[in-house]
Amino acid sequence: MRVVEAFRAAFGTDPETVWRAPGRVNLIGEHTDYNDGFVLPFAVPWGVTAAVSPRPDQTIRLLSLQGSTTEPITLATREEATGWTRYAVGVLAMLGDRVRGADIALDGDVPQGAGLSSSAALEVSVASALNELHDLGLTPMEIALLSQRAENDFVGMPCGIMDQAASALCEEGHALFLDCRTLGSRSIPLDLAAHDLRILIIDTQVHHEHAGGEYAKRRAECESAARKLGVDALRDVTDLAGALERLQGDERKRVMHVVTESHRVEALVGMLRAGATREIGALLNASHLSLRDQYEVSSPELDVAVEAAVRGGARGARMTGGGFGGSAIALVDEDRLDSVRESVAAAYAERSWTPPRFLPATPAKGAHRLS
Ligand code: GLA
Repeated sequence: MRVVEAFRAAFGTDPETVWRAPGRVNLIGEHTDYNDGFVLPFAVPWGVTAAVSPRPDQTIRLLSLQGSTTEPITLATREEATGWTRYAVGVLAMLGDRVRGADIALDGDVPQGAGLSSSAALEVSVASALNELHDLGLTPMEIALLSQRAENDFVGMPCGIMDQAASALCEEGHALFLDCRTLGSRSIPLDLAAHDLRILIIDTQVHHEHAGGEYAKRRAECESAARKLGVDALRDVTDLAGALERLQGDERKRVMHVVTESHRVEALVGMLRAGATREIGALLNASHLSLRDQYEVSSPELDVAVEAAVRGGARGARMTGGGFGGSAIALVDEDRLDSVRESVAAAYAERSWTPPRFLPATPAKGAHRLS
């Protein structure tokens, strides 16, 4: 394994453990996680492999095969961390006194900037390795929560639990139906091939700069709306029509999205369980329209990808992840894959946009030990 070789070359010994954790796409349930609602992500075949050994001192040495240098970065204090190193150091910081320093080599193959949660994959791979090395006895959900805290409190991105939970808990061939309030989860079989279907990831190759600020703003709008409605979280809105009457402007739109989106997750899970996998496209389309018009987190590139995919014969399509660029997913009959790809590529070419990247998504396995 090349990450082990890089570890050995840089640190002079073998790593004590090697863990791999994947990125994710979200089938449905967008911007519902921090509203205590439901989500349905699945792990993608790409992820981060972390080769790790503990150190007796406070020093952290980090190496990434994707970094700009093959020399390890040595940090005397955690506050020195910048860039990608913050995700790993954040995990160590959240473990507090339980863990001192570490030597860490990372090898990642999550397409960068595609919105497939490479940061969650990095956090969960490192957290899983440290959990084993220090005998911490953390469950996969506790590892996800710790990784989320690293991102919230150390990196400063106020994300929900979805990405880290998907990376830690997903099972091969399944999506993860997660209740973001109780943190109860269930693996739902997602055998696309049995239905002659595929999920195509369309990476717009665009990432809008303001994404982080807009994400925090949406969260704040949801929290403000929940306060006005006298509920703990938008998950608790049971009378949507009544709630909408009491709100105005953006907050009204945000509530409309969050409440209907969480119901769409439950509806989609019901359809999968009933074997109606070929019929879930309408829910994907409805999710996209709601994200575009009510939650306002789409982008022209995502909208064009979704519309062109459906025009090219996809059974449904939607943006996936936080929005403002990143990727869309399309549910496509196997024999329509070429037609969908051509339709999207042509729509981008017409606008002289950078061609999108197409990736096939098969539900992969969550975090696991490699050696
Ligand atoms: C990002 C966040 C997640 C989630 C999605 C939107 O991926 O990291 O927690 O909120 O956006 O569904």
